[in-house]
Amino acid sequence: MSDPEPVVVAVAPGRVNLIGDHTDTTGGLVLPMAIDLATTVTGRRGGDRVVLTSADESDPAVVTLDIADPASVQPGWARYVAGVVAELRPPVGFTGTVSTTLPVGAGLSSSAALEVAVALALGFEGTPLGLAQLTQRSEQRASGVPCGIMDQLASAAGVEGHALLIDCHVLSVSPVALPPEAEVRVVHSGEARQLAGSAYAERREAVEAAEAVVRPLRLVRDVTALDVLDDRVLFRRARHVVTENARVRAFAEALAAGDLAIAGRLMAESHASLRDDFEVSTPALDRLVERLSAAPGVHGARLTGAGFGGCVVALTDPGALGEGWLVRASRGARRT
Ligand code: GLA
Repeated sequence: MSDPEPVVVAVAPGRVNLIGDHTDTTGGLVLPMAIDLATTVTGRRGGDRVVLTSADESDPAVVTLDIADPASVQPGWARYVAGVVAELRPPVGFTGTVSTTLPVGAGLSSSAALEVAVALALGFEGTPLGLAQLTQRSEQRASGVPCGIMDQLASAAGVEGHALLIDCHVLSVSPVALPPEAEVRVVHSGEARQLAGSAYAERREAVEAAEAVVRPLRLVRDVTALDVLDDRVLFRRARHVVTENARVRAFAEALAAGDLAIAGRLMAESHASLRDDFEVSTPALDRLVERLSAAPGVHGARLTGAGFGGCVVALTDPGALGEGWLVRASRGARRT
């Protein structure tokens, strides 16, 4: 008898975005970090199907290697596995388990972590950027949501102790050291993300419509260039993108200079822009941001990720907040 295939272990972190939301799809700037909550896939290659069981799910993911329509797969979590199989087309199957320390569906990119870990377990070879591009396509096929590359790239390219300044047009990743005296807290609003798919796509279309009139928004530095937009909704959507790109630049500089007060102020401005101009906040997120921002030792707080529910991220002095998750900037996905 031949030896069994060796056991493969693939680990992929979730991410929290410190600033720069709804900019990745326009080739703009984002500043996420991979976190020390992660998804692990363990198993052996072989056979002609991918079979994964999860302690958190009652039904396994069972995916044939020739899967054509990942979005139709049941149960729901298996779609992300199917999306990866459809994009990677591994020559052999895999049998194993999935476990995670990430809260699922909270806006910390549990689906991106699952996709990235599955791709590595199934044998992906290539750069972190290549891994992110493949799993971004997997997510789009699985969920039908035209997401950007931030979540998958943060998971694939994370650097311990650093946030990642990502230019989503040229796809460059520049690690920015987090000041050692800064803590990052993530607190759930108590609201599951709602309407995230359809409203996300609608926002993306609005930004594209604004770009068709103005020019690519990543090239706009002066908001007066947006005055040509007669439609006030398009104007506000575009103003969010232009001002958010500027805030990401300023935030990266503030972090590098160790100026947490400025960084916190930029987070507050980002939240206001997401609330008023991009309209992806909720009353629960607004109340949480307000309450956390008022606590002593909190420099700033904002919704993080797509919005419509989910989590708030806060930048604080050590020990300032006792609730939610204390997350540390972590290295990116790997196979061990
Ligand atoms: C989701 C998407 C990302 C990004 C954020 C908003 O997390 O998957 O690509 O667009 O929303 O910044």
